Amino acid sequence: MNEYAHHLDKLPAILKKGLGRDLCTCNGVVKMDVIKAIIDGATTIEEVRRETYASTGIGCCAQQIERLIECLCEPDTE
Ligand code: FES
Repeated sequence: MNEYAHHLDKLPAILKKGLGRDLCTCNGVVKMDVIKAIIDGATTIEEVRRETYASTGIGCCAQQIERLIECLCEPDTE
């Protein structure tokens, strides 16, 4: 988890909640797994879907995933 810690700093507080809970309840994919996939290089919802199966249900979590990609793929501001 530590190697991911500084990436998590990019997320607004509200998106850091419930990391161990399902983000995609349709497929039982926990939020941290989605975040890890993005940090490890998935930059589109299709890539996240391929890596984690998140959002392959009825797609109700797609917007949350888009937002995570947006935050996590922002260039470092330091
Ligand atoms: S919660 Fe992910 S597709 Fe429904």
